[in-house]
Amino acid sequence: MSDQALLQLLQHAGDDKQPVLLILDEHDSVLPPPQHPQSRALSNRFDICTSARRQGWLCSFSDFLLTAELMQGCRRALYRVSKEKRVVEHVMQSLWQLLPVTGELHCAGYKGEGIKTFAKRAAAAWDCELSLERGDGNLHLYTFTKNSERAEPLQVGDYHALQAIAAWQGCQVYSKPGVFAWDRFDAGSVCLLDYLPKLLAQADRQQQRALDLGCGSGLLALALAQAGFREVVATDNNAAAIRACEFNLQQLATTQQVQVIADDCGMSLRGNFDVILCNPPFHQGFEVEQTLSDRFLEAALRVLKADGKALFVVNSFIPLERKAAAWFGKVEKVADNKLYKLVLLGHS
Ligand SMILES: C[S@@+](CC[C@H](N)C(=O)[O-])C[C@H]1O[C@@H](n2cnc3c(N)ncnc32)[C@H](O)[C@@H]1O
Repeated sequence: MSDQALLQLLQHAGDDKQPVLLILDEHDSVLPPPQHPQSRALSNRFDICTSARRQGWLCSFSDFLLTAELMQGCRRALYRVSKEKRVVEHVMQSLWQLLPVTGELHCAGYKGEGIKTFAKRAAAAWDCELSLERGDGNLHLYTFTKNSERAEPLQVGDYHALQAIAAWQGCQVYSKPGVFAWDRFDAGSVCLLDYLPKLLAQADRQQQRALDLGCGSGLLALALAQAGFREVVATDNNAAAIRACEFNLQQLATTQQVQVIADDCGMSLRGNFDVILCNPPFHQGFEVEQTLSDRFLEAALRVLKADGKALFVVNSFIPLERKAAAWFGKVEKVADNKLYKLVLLGHS
């Protein structure tokens, strides 16, 4: 489903006379092509970036590394606010610093997503003029016009710094804002890891390849590497997750092959895996997104070896078994603690 806030923001502040810088988080939309040939975009999501490029946008992929080069020639920045507070603060703050005096920052979001609070805080921290227009469905479209370089920071701390979260089997795990469950181990993933010794009981891991599909900070990938697989591949759509996962896996000084790949539902993965672990997403931005778990199942089906095993963890109420039964010969619920369940999948 297209994100209407993003489309309305583009209608409201897009420009054919001068280039704009458009910041895209996970809000999904088929964008109209850029109105000005020098307009550009940046996204922290691989799928959104690919789709923007398809529509003719010059789009870079990074964890919101906002640079002067990116802003060069743009007097307008457009941002549909993200879900996470720390991300919004970082993006608004960085865009503000990069905009030239008289430049404009346009931000859009719905009431209930915190946009009013962000606008209030920014107006108090910056020397700016602020105007508000309302769009459909309680959409708030704010325009901040920069009067001078004077500004108080909106955020505390360095958005890009990786932070120690907790240790897993003696190995410190790091994460950062912008990554799923970045300040803790996700309870679903821990539930899956508790079952891992049983899953791997008879595996000849030194000969085998394992995959963490939707790796986040890479806790599952780390456990697979610790378990001694010959090769461990981890993949995610989110640039922040890729960075955290790479960092976490690099800490293990091993001779195993370890690879972290930015990708949309593992579409570029080649070859087959003996073991796949997955804690699939079921939110995209502020929306519940059912089709993502279907796409994760399809990806697992495509890259699972004929005698391989895929273990998914989902909230207990999600009908994963019913969905999986359409594709997999073997579908077995192997644990359920009423909050999370583990579903084991195989070709037969
Ligand atoms: C529920 S989280 C699990 C993260 C991690 N495995 C853990 O256990 O903490 C799901 C992950 O899927 C990623 N994701 C969402 N959409 C994706 C897509 N289209 N392709 C690949 N990964 C995606 C999210 O960025 C997130 O890291």
